[in-house]
Amino acid sequence: MSLPRLYRELAWCWPLMSPPEEYAEEAALWREAIRKRLGPGRHRVLELGVGGGHNMSHLTGDFDFTAADISPHMLEQARRLNPDVQFHVGDMRSIRLGRTFDAVLIHDAITYLTTEDDLRAAFATARAHLRKGGVFITSPDWFRDTFRGPYTECRTSTDGRVEFTYFEYTYDPDPSDTTVRTLMWYLIREGGGDPRIERDVHVGGLFPLSTWEGLLEEAGFRVEQDSYDVHPDGHEGRLLVGVLEG
Ligand SMILES: C[S@@+](CC[C@H](N)C(=O)[O-])C[C@H]1O[C@@H](n2cnc3c(N)ncnc32)[C@H](O)[C@@H]1O
Repeated sequence: MSLPRLYRELAWCWPLMSPPEEYAEEAALWREAIRKRLGPGRHRVLELGVGGGHNMSHLTGDFDFTAADISPHMLEQARRLNPDVQFHVGDMRSIRLGRTFDAVLIHDAITYLTTEDDLRAAFATARAHLRKGGVFITSPDWFRDTFRGPYTECRTSTDGRVEFTYFEYTYDPDPSDTTVRTLMWYLIREGGGDPRIERDVHVGGLFPLSTWEGLLEEAGFRVEQDSYDVHPDGHEGRLLVGVLEG
């Protein structure tokens, strides 16, 4: 699995591309999903593939977070925004912290898993870190059933020093496999003049909803779903919730 440039040498661009303050509404759906199943309290939560910790930053006031990501560059961003969280470098398919939590979350990072074996491994990780009665929540970007690509997106933002623009194009080059590709161009303009243009490729998983449900059940979860209307282009989202029955 090769990590996109955005999560390596261009990780510093993540807050410009997807500003933390824009996650407030989305994070509210995660808070509600946790509260609905676990009730009130400062539950112990593990987030895998936490990225810059943008979504998490709206939830640390409610819950006690521990977080992990495969990219040390992204964790550097996440630490800056969430100084009180304990972070670990690790792959969601194999990391083992040797402790359990009330909830395990994998936000959009689950999209980077492209085979059923990857999903099995990540679900086993979630299970290994949950107490009985705990919940695993994830939100795949795409489902085979509703994918109607190509999808395009572009926007510009600035922090007053750097102006950052991205164009993205998501398509399915081979409908017989379980992946989609997103081509991305970043226009980075520092100090006036012309922007420099960087290209990136993100490969994501594309599975039918029935595969997600089947593999979650195989991993020992009772599957529930919450609606998740967060995608700017209007494509359907879902929060998949796995309850580890006690
Ligand atoms: C879109 S970013 C997550 C952004 C995050 N939701 C936020 O609010 O800032 C996707 C993240 O998934 C991470 N990732 C991809 N594959 C991974 C894996 N196998 N294990 C752990 N992290 C992974 C990447 O390093 C990247 O930080």
